Amino acid sequence: MKIAVFDSGIGGLSVLHLALKKFPKENFLYYADSDNVPYGIKTKEELVLLVDNAIKNMIKEDVKAIVVACNTATSAAIQKMREKYTIPLIGMEPAVKKAVDFYGNKRILVIATPVTVRGKKMQDLISKVDKEHLVDLIALPKLVNFAEQEIFENMEVEEYLSEEFRNIDFKNYSSIVLGCTHFNYFKDSLRKILPEHINILDGNEGTVNKLFLELKTNNILEENEEPKIEFYYSGRKVEDEENLKRLERYLKRLDFMLEI
Ligand code: DGL
Repeated sequence: MKIAVFDSGIGGLSVLHLALKKFPKENFLYYADSDNVPYGIKTKEELVLLVDNAIKNMIKEDVKAIVVACNTATSAAIQKMREKYTIPLIGMEPAVKKAVDFYGNKRILVIATPVTVRGKKMQDLISKVDKEHLVDLIALPKLVNFAEQEIFENMEVEEYLSEEFRNIDFKNYSSIVLGCTHFNYFKDSLRKILPEHINILDGNEGTVNKLFLELKTNNILEENEEPKIEFYYSGRKVEDEENLKRLERYLKRLDFMLEI
């Protein structure tokens, strides 16, 4: 059977990329809801319908667990989906706890989509772990569009980030938390404009660890001789050269991001 990794677009490839390192013998199905990206500016009601539809499509493909590799979908819909489906659903959680535990000597900036920033899940997380009120939130929806268009390291991106960070005095901050999986592609641009002492954290490792526990507890870990990865754009299997190449370019970029 396969492990499904799901996102609105190509952000969740960063979770797949890490999961492949941890589970090289598992079969994967990557599902990008590319007909409906971006998710981060939609309403919660719209997102519940879209995520529900995506899960229905994935379940048809013989999957044993679904990683919702999208903070926005996790925030808006995972609770409802858990009530509806019995298949293990593993969500994202921005690494706010880790940031507070390790770098709580100074302020922490969380960047995410508008849905995630204003969602109840984020508010609950912050009231649970941010006892000293150290966490600030900024929504950066344009980064999702840049990532989908393969625009990563250029003037436009840097100007956008600088403009959005104009009121942040990074002297008072220890770290930045990437609360959207699409933002993993911008580690180099962020590194370029942020002072050196700022730590960049993402939630991917936490999610992959949760996936491991889920597979182990349910006794569904596999070691396949010839593991496969399939890609879907919304309900359609990606089989054409152009799009397979596109996905390969993103995975290559993620290799490069590991060095940052
Ligand atoms: N990658 C998604 C996330 O982690 C959302 C991007 C979007 O579609 O707005 O939040």
